[in-house]
Amino acid sequence: MSMKFQPFLALLTLLFLHKFPQVVADLNSDREALLAFAAAVPHARKLNWKKTTPVCTSWVGVACNLNGTGVIAIRLPGIGLSGPIPVNTIGKLNALMILSLRSNNLNGNLPSDIPSIPSLCYLFLQHNNFSSVFPTSLSPRLKVLDFSYNSFTGNIPTTVQNLTRLTILNLQKNYISGAIPYLNLPSLKVLNFSYNNLNGSIPKSLKRFPSSSFIGNLLLCGSPLKRCFTVSSSPSPSSPSYFLGPPTVSHSQHATLKNKLGAGSIIAIVIGGLAILLLLVVIFIRCLKRTDGGGSGMMKKTISGGGKSAKPNDFGSGIQEAEKNKLFFFEGCSYNFDLEDLLKASAEVLGKGSCGTTYKAALEEGTQVVVKRLKEVAVGKREFEQQMEVLERIGRHPNVVPLRAYYYSKDEKLLVYNYMPAGSLFSLLHGNRNAGRTPLDWDSRMKIALGTARGIAHIHAEGGGKCIHGNIKSSNVLLSDELEGCVSDAGLVPLMNAPVTMSRIVGYRAPEVIETRKVTQKSDVYSFGVLLLEMLTAKAPLQPSGHDDVADLPRWVRSVVREEWTAEVFDVELLRFQNYQEEMVQMLQIALACVAKTPEMRPKMDETVRMIEDIRQSESKNRTSSEAESNIQTP
Ligand SMILES: *[C@@H]1O[C@H](CO)[C@@H](O)[C@H](O)[C@H]1NC(C)=O
Ligand SMILES: *[C@@H]1O[C@H](CO)[C@@H](O)[C@H](O)[C@H]1NC(C)=O
Ligand SMILES: *[C@@H]1O[C@H](CO)[C@@H](O)[C@H](O)[C@H]1NC(C)=O
Ligand SMILES: *[C@@H]1O[C@H](CO)[C@@H](O)[C@H](O)[C@H]1NC(C)=O
Ligand SMILES: *[C@@H]1O[C@H](CO)[C@@H](O)[C@H](O)[C@H]1NC(C)=O
Repeated sequence: MSMKFQPFLALLTLLFLHKFPQVVADLNSDREALLAFAAAVPHARKLNWKKTTPVCTSWVGVACNLNGTGVIAIRLPGIGLSGPIPVNTIGKLNALMILSLRSNNLNGNLPSDIPSIPSLCYLFLQHNNFSSVFPTSLSPRLKVLDFSYNSFTGNIPTTVQNLTRLTILNLQKNYISGAIPYLNLPSLKVLNFSYNNLNGSIPKSLKRFPSSSFIGNLLLCGSPLKRCFTVSSSPSPSSPSYFLGPPTVSHSQHATLKNKLGAGSIIAIVIGGLAILLLLVVIFIRCLKRTDGGGSGMMKKTISGGGKSAKPNDFGSGIQEAEKNKLFFFEGCSYNFDLEDLLKASAEVLGKGSCGTTYKAALEEGTQVVVKRLKEVAVGKREFEQQMEVLERIGRHPNVVPLRAYYYSKDEKLLVYNYMPAGSLFSLLHGNRNAGRTPLDWDSRMKIALGTARGIAHIHAEGGGKCIHGNIKSSNVLLSDELEGCVSDAGLVPLMNAPVTMSRIVGYRAPEVIETRKVTQKSDVYSFGVLLLEMLTAKAPLQPSGHDDVADLPRWVRSVVREEWTAEVFDVELLRFQNYQEEMVQMLQIALACVAKTPEMRPKMDETVRMIEDIRQSESKNRTSSEAESNIQTP
């Protein structure tokens, strides 16, 4: 059984390598160094490295730069390497950027020439049993340093402070001791010092990480762990940055609280406040009506008399008294309420979209539904009803939110959908990024992407293959309890005045739509491509939500992929799932195909579904047999 060649590396190799012109690597010396490594370190699985075969194109786990003059990546995870690594083997690869030897049985001393290779960016040594002192000489280019699950000892050296590009530092489950040095590394996104023998107080600059980054160090204290009692522990004025005096501690706790009140909570508080205000207004109006002698408890009569705009949040305001029971339920719907119940229900605004406002309505007997109040409907009653029949058929798919009922009158158009308590993909991806959020793992993202693609493909197959969604975006992908992606808001575009619907979906809008002002199935594919990029990068395409927004996500991704490390585009939350890099890169390729500038270049939606399904299938196949793949690398 041979090892799998990593397409991720192939991509890196192809995309990137003219970036380090200063290194004049020598392939012959690299070959000698690797052969010496293979000869000295026993491995359970055979490596096909031979002096007679070309290093760059046939050696498993090895990738070279474009012109084949130097080895830039070694990936040998989980192939049963054991024992110590001798000096002057891998340490001699002077163009090496990526080294992954994770999940082997390597032990003993980590030769100091390895972490100090000047070009090294990614070092994965987790799940071995290296027992050396923490190396002090480290490549200044390091972005990922993973020593976790080993037996490293000694202190964390102050040289770590010089690693300004570091984004991931994993040291958990070792025997590292002493105090944590002052580390101010703005790029650092993931830090784990848990389960070591560290002592002293946590430097202020690291308190932004969760307590789970520091647990299992009995003598460690300070925010985010319990506070320090600094009675006699900091006698030396020469190490002021290691310890926080008592006044700074209370200051820092105050700051933490403030940080926790991120934009999200402030918005929540404001919305809460507005909701209470609204409630008071509603109660006030009801009281007025009671004294008026209206008596029925219905609000819309007064309101439609007094002008519609008076209370835009009441979704019943355009309904005439006589039409109250004309809520049309589709067959097979188990809901048991009428329009009057719906109007009496307590409602909460879920969002305002291009098609209208969406409410969550809680009916008296505990049923919850979503009511969408359409605005600017441009079609007559018959056309509306026909489209409702189409929507009902569209909704008979596990990946589409089903339409249950609708109401149509001259002044008011309501759609009733199932309520999806798990919320939208948008909130799952972008919500609560600062505080203690559960990262959205790769499997869930795959599942949501596939479900959403299937939902859209189903929509495209409806109406004689002519149906269009027209408004695909992450806030229109809702999630079931099992985190299945369900498309909502399907098929509303034909009901609307086109220019209205255009205004809101900017970040997802295909370039040709700006001119033609017409959405098509191919523009849906584009929007879906943007959605995939959003899931891979966690950057919101033009949403007014804060820092991590990108005006034109496809363009940004293309520019990063062209000029930089492909790894840079991915959401930091995904960097934990190193084993799935190949899948991520394949998904990235699918997304980039979907956002092709010309519509003809984009795949169809059902093809897109098949490509996503293939990612998993080819992966599981690769895990068993992959000999043939090593020649992908040939330019
Ligand atoms: C090969 O590419 C590297 C950079 O990737 C460059 O430094 C080197 O000069 C090139 N060598 C040849 C022979 O073109
Ligand atoms: C790791 O190495 C240490 C000695 O350096 C040894 O005591 C320990 O048993 C090893 N652990 C494993 C799991 O092999
Ligand atoms: C960090 O880098 C600076 C400048 O490159 C150097 O002077 C200093 O000695 C380095 N610090 C450590 C601890 O290596
Ligand atoms: C931390 O541990 C080191 C030994 O690893 C010891 O010398 C030092 O005194 C300890 N410091 C504190 C504050 O406990
Ligand atoms: C750090 O590692 C420990 C041990 O594996 C784990 O329990 C903890 O959740 C990790 N913390 C973070 C922030 O990843």
